[in-house]
Amino acid sequence: MVQLTLPKNSRITTGKTWPKPEGATNVRKFQIYRWNPDDGQNPRVDTYFVDMDDCGPMVLDALIYIKNKIDPTLTFRRSCREGICGSCAMNIDGINTLACIYGMDEIKGDVKIYPLPHMPVVKDLIPDLTHFYAQHASIMPWLETKTNPPEKEWRQSIEDRKKLDGLYECVMCASCSTSCPSYWWNGDRYLGPAALLHAYRWIIDSRDEATGERLDELEDPFKLYRCHTIMNCAKTCPKGLNPAKAIAEIKKLMVERTV
Ligand code: SF4
Ligand code: FES
Repeated sequence: MVQLTLPKNSRITTGKTWPKPEGATNVRKFQIYRWNPDDGQNPRVDTYFVDMDDCGPMVLDALIYIKNKIDPTLTFRRSCREGICGSCAMNIDGINTLACIYGMDEIKGDVKIYPLPHMPVVKDLIPDLTHFYAQHASIMPWLETKTNPPEKEWRQSIEDRKKLDGLYECVMCASCSTSCPSYWWNGDRYLGPAALLHAYRWIIDSRDEATGERLDELEDPFKLYRCHTIMNCAKTCPKGLNPAKAIAEIKKLMVERTV
């Protein structure tokens, strides 16, 4: 069940059903969340039909088809079309994922598309990620050093570099954080899986010299400890990462430094 943060005093209504593309024999039905902050109307779900013989295989291809050929007002974010920029994250068929790498053949029946759950909506499928990005910035997502910089570069052994695998690949799409019930209810104070995965990425970096400060910052009943290992984050991550494991590693380091 998709959980949406609706504009105040509103409810989702049935929207417009757009005509099927003329002459198309292989069509697929799409039901897509629409909300325009400027028209004073309730959010609605519009129905579109896409000619599958004239459309690429990914959900983003269908959204682009709809925008280009049926309804130019449909609004969504996308950039790379390769699963690297993280901007096309949305809820597709009940799953938070990246539209550009989610194949329509993975979906049975009608394709239902909503914005990422439990986030304020800017318009249609675009969530407001201001708070999410501020939380990311709060964990200092950069190398912190105190010693004088080396002549050429901060070096790292192959073994230490390997510790960053499974962390550096994160594209900050917010699929994980917005699938987490703890983040839904306490997102104002709990940092959420994405920011904590990044926090661990820098804590574990052998070149970083602010590990103590980083752990001090996270020693808080909400920022870190609202993770209850529900594991939705790992299940949904379109890059196959495991933020829950990173969070567990931070908790372990917290314990280790007290003994
Ligand atoms: S961990 Fe995965 S789901 Fe979470 S922000 Fe990074 S890429 Fe997206
Ligand atoms: S468009 Fe960049 S991740 Fe989908």
